[in-house]
Amino acid sequence: MKKAEGYGFGKVILFGEHFVVYGLPAIASAIGDKTIATIGNAKKFELVDNRPATEGYKETKKGEMERSMKLILDFMKIDPCKTPVKITLSGNLLCASGIGASAAMATALARAFSEYFSLDLDDNQINRISYEGEKGSAGTPSGIDNTCATFGGLLWFEKNLGGGENKIELIKIKRPVEIVLGNTGISQETREVVADVRKAKESDPKRYDRIFSDYRKLVRDARKSLENHEIQNIGKLMDENHRLLREMNLSCREAEEIISTAKKNGAIGAKITGTGRGGYVILLTPRKAVQEKVTKAIEAAGYGVLKTTIGA
Ligand code: MEV
Repeated sequence: MKKAEGYGFGKVILFGEHFVVYGLPAIASAIGDKTIATIGNAKKFELVDNRPATEGYKETKKGEMERSMKLILDFMKIDPCKTPVKITLSGNLLCASGIGASAAMATALARAFSEYFSLDLDDNQINRISYEGEKGSAGTPSGIDNTCATFGGLLWFEKNLGGGENKIELIKIKRPVEIVLGNTGISQETREVVADVRKAKESDPKRYDRIFSDYRKLVRDARKSLENHEIQNIGKLMDENHRLLREMNLSCREAEEIISTAKKNGAIGAKITGTGRGGYVILLTPRKAVQEKVTKAIEAAGYGVLKTTIGA
């Protein structure tokens, strides 16, 4: 029996979710946790989703996932009626809003289909397919999630609003930095939140011009601080980024509780990451001892955590 496998990384956005949709730069890092797609022959099309997930995630994301799958199959010109396959999704990436789970799935599927049909696609082509899948999730995706899911690494990303190639640069840092991801347990549909931000921006352009201009200044500083390993400054800039996201109504009570708990226990920067209004919160916790302390405090407050590093 023919079998093929593909993978896609999860990601965290350190700076610039939502701003990136409008062509402003963002900085994101892939994490080591992955989604894996396995494809085998079958009599009829079948999908088995064994990915670990936050409660309610799969239900909230059902529509997104179906749209993504269809977009990927159409783009790759695969007709599941003519070539029925069994797709199994697995891996160690805990699916929750904010961690790039939909892009990790799209990239894993693109890689698995490429192998299954002997298409021999390179990473740029895989990334292009994954971007198509992201349209099912994010509506008007910037492309940052699929880029991280496909290439990995710590990336500077600017969407080309003219439709040409996006600017993608690898950021090198001296050594990996510990982070904790706190899970609010709340799932959101990215396309809805992105659409809400667009509406708010259109109805109050002056306020959003100011927020966007504040962000533009801080992201350049953030890149320099990452390259120079100025950890305290990175934390301060993450806090500022979060304040802007809060002004855009993208935080929530649970995220604020995780942030204040983490701060009391030594985190030096904290913000929501990804879609917002739930999902994950990223906490900058350099050094293992701080990472441990913050992890324990957040768990004690009743939230799930994931310990990882950026820039590995
Ligand atoms: C989602 O992980 C990030 C958003 O900026 C949407 C996107 O970039 O496509 C909210």
